[in-house]
Amino acid sequence: MFNTEPANKAISNKFIKSDSQMLNQIYGTDDVVPYWIADMEFPVASPITQAMQDLVHRETYSYEFDSETVFKAIASWNKTRHGLNLNPTHFVQVPGVLSAIALLIREFSEAGDSVLIQTPVYHQFRRLIESAGRKSVNNTLKIEDEHYVMDFVDFEHQLKHGNVKIVLLCNPHNPVGRVWKKAELEQLVAIARKYQTLIISDEVHGDIVFEGVAFTSITELDYDNSISIIGSPAKNFGLNSIANGYIYTDNTELKDKIKATVNSMSLDHSNAFTTNATIAAYQQGEKWFDAFLTYTQKNRNWMLNFLQVNLPGIKVFAPEGTNQVWLDFTGLGLQSAELKTLLSQKSKMALTPGTWFGEPDENFYRMNFAAPLEQIKASFELLLAEIEKANQ
Ligand SMILES: Cc1ncc(COP(=O)(O)O)c(C=O)c1O
Repeated sequence: MFNTEPANKAISNKFIKSDSQMLNQIYGTDDVVPYWIADMEFPVASPITQAMQDLVHRETYSYEFDSETVFKAIASWNKTRHGLNLNPTHFVQVPGVLSAIALLIREFSEAGDSVLIQTPVYHQFRRLIESAGRKSVNNTLKIEDEHYVMDFVDFEHQLKHGNVKIVLLCNPHNPVGRVWKKAELEQLVAIARKYQTLIISDEVHGDIVFEGVAFTSITELDYDNSISIIGSPAKNFGLNSIANGYIYTDNTELKDKIKATVNSMSLDHSNAFTTNATIAAYQQGEKWFDAFLTYTQKNRNWMLNFLQVNLPGIKVFAPEGTNQVWLDFTGLGLQSAELKTLLSQKSKMALTPGTWFGEPDENFYRMNFAAPLEQIKASFELLLAEIEKANQ
């Protein structure tokens, strides 16, 4: 069952997010609670642990890439949860979501072409685009009625004039927490169709959507020129460093092309751990996942309420999905250096600076809330106390 006891502390010191040197570099101290990486603090579902233990006890690690069972399990999960009709033979296995994006950028654009991203957005997108020798162009999101929306006028302008070969979509959107509505995606696709631009949709957070919100995959939109990275069990099942990525497209021509390239590099070879963990997660992890989602939704609601009641100077963009919350501290009226000191040195919260995501305003930060509620409460109470102390 879902267990809210945080992962083994002795081990967690070895996690990247608790790496002393790195924390000192980013926050000027390592005495912080890590909320900056998008992973969870909880032990994984017990069927996953069981599958891994069985494998270790077996003491044999042969060539066993059971992709057929993996793809069927993911297709069936997506049918149950999102009503998606995915063809198990149209998946392509890759080492991870980021390597999938890197590969697709190279496959479907040339050096010097532009790839469009919707900033503020997951910082690795820009790095992957630029390190492939492509240009990243921003289609900056707009804030309307307290939440982020796409700027379709600018989007069309960029597609018309910007030599854009690929739109790299983030759905659900990290860090602003939007789960794009079907109508929004339809509008996006209508423009992309007009200019025949390929859409690559990173849907790794697709399962993490809160009550009353429906996830729409790009695969539902009947746009032939689209590819979805339907994800991996990284974010939903906490398999960040042992998960694979799964590319999906209904377009047979695109699928065959991707498959041939991936195969030519032998990147479709999975490993026994990820194969068995993924099958266990998607076939037996549903109850655990529902409990996890309920728990993180409770965290989300607690934070929204706490900030509204106690700290209205901090604007919170209520996430519709993802375990990330996007916060705007402008209302506190602090200089950016003062704000950094308040957050990391005084309140001991390691939040991700918004500037990483291409947000020019230094008052924005992202926080990962897939963590024990007691820990989150303690952090916010300390933040409140520090703000009150400063105002005395
Ligand atoms: C939108 C998005 N894509 C991809 C990744 C990383 O995926 P992977 O570790 O499978 O490469 C993350 C991790 O935070 C993410 O938020």
